[in-house]
Amino acid sequence: MAVNTSELMSTIVSLAKRRGFVFQSSEIYGGLNSCWDYGPLGVELKRNVKDAWWRAMVTNRRDVVGIDASILMHPRVWEASGHLSGFSDPMVDCKKCKERFRADHLENLDKCPKPKCGGQLTEVRKFNLMFKTWMGPIEDSSATVYMRPETAQGIFVNFLNVQQASRLKPPFGIAQIGKSFRNEITPGNFTYRTREFEQMEMEFFVPPGEDEQWYEYWRDARLQWYKDFGIKADKLRLRDHEQDELAHYAKACVDVEYLFPFGWSELEGIANRTDYDLKQHEQFSGKGMAYFDDETKQHYHPYVVEPAAGADRATLAFLVDAYDVEGEGKDERVVLRFHPALAPIKVAVLPLVKKDGMPEMGEKIYRDLLDNSIKSFYDQTASIGRRYARQDEVGTPFCVTVDTQSLEDQTVTVRERDSREQYRIASSELVGLVRKKMRESMK
Ligand code: GAP
Repeated sequence: MAVNTSELMSTIVSLAKRRGFVFQSSEIYGGLNSCWDYGPLGVELKRNVKDAWWRAMVTNRRDVVGIDASILMHPRVWEASGHLSGFSDPMVDCKKCKERFRADHLENLDKCPKPKCGGQLTEVRKFNLMFKTWMGPIEDSSATVYMRPETAQGIFVNFLNVQQASRLKPPFGIAQIGKSFRNEITPGNFTYRTREFEQMEMEFFVPPGEDEQWYEYWRDARLQWYKDFGIKADKLRLRDHEQDELAHYAKACVDVEYLFPFGWSELEGIANRTDYDLKQHEQFSGKGMAYFDDETKQHYHPYVVEPAAGADRATLAFLVDAYDVEGEGKDERVVLRFHPALAPIKVAVLPLVKKDGMPEMGEKIYRDLLDNSIKSFYDQTASIGRRYARQDEVGTPFCVTVDTQSLEDQTVTVRERDSREQYRIASSELVGLVRKKMRESMK
């Protein structure tokens, strides 16, 4: 059944709340604008997204290592990086309704865009997006520190620490997943643009002159990653930045965009950051940031290619893309067609009835799955059809039913989410089957 695009987002937002993916932050106090809490299924989904990224970017590669840097960094970092002077958006205020807008999102800077207001707008002002706080008990300017607006700088300042500790030679990368904070003027579209969010960034350090070829490599690799985890190819595209769009540090940048119900929007940026950051930190800290090449006996500042993704945006894209409504009338079903590696629950164990030893056998199977670190769920309430529907709606790839025959021959029925195909296997083979299916889904 076709779903009206304009309604799709609100349908997904309400499913996300009802089934425990995402709740509004501090809801009982009326919520806090642009802040969201991941519920039991959402936290599993987002962890799976981050794990999939880490596996592809770090675990499965010989040339990338990880770090976990602190959120609060020396304030000079943000002077060197350019964030203190340049990380701002142009903003205007409506003198009548007092609402604040991003000037670069408005067509007409003369009057308030709200139809019922039409008030006069202020002059355009620059608004720095970094959150400030104080370190220690004295709240004065000498104690000001910033909540990091990107994880990247924690990598740059540790470049030589990591390079020397790991004895790496360019080309190599340093990856990090962590929270970043931006005081966005206009957050919105659910978890798409928020003021507190998680980034998955990797800085790939290469000899100057190899930057353009690595930039091409990472553009393709990052686009492919979203496809590998099930995002439909026709909903993904690469969009090159125009010269006047480029960040102050970038020589080239391309966005991986996804066609959300609210239009094509950025999931990730891949930038050629040149040697800008290392040289800036060298200048501001007075510490050499060049790499010494043992073979040529030369010092040089590597160029950096940076794939910078958002964990929350990727999670939202996987959720939206997985949403499907199939059939009509009483045959209609809502399915989240998550890639098995991303699905919050892998297996649901469902005894057909609540008696005759079926719950006991179901419990044993459930315990066995958990003992093998396969995130599973046990449900013995409601009709079997209703229970399948509940699992389809949260994207569980496999349901396992325990019935009368199970008690006789120790077999169970496996029902697959997408095809609804059902087959019997020995219950002792279940863990092996799920593992095999998960492995195959990664090919
Ligand atoms: N280090 C480069 C950098 O931070 P960016 O394009 O500003 O580049 C990278 O951010 C990614 O971080 C974005 O593509 C997006 O996925 C995520 N991101 C940025 N701002 C965000 C926000 N306000 N809310 C959610 N995610 C955000």
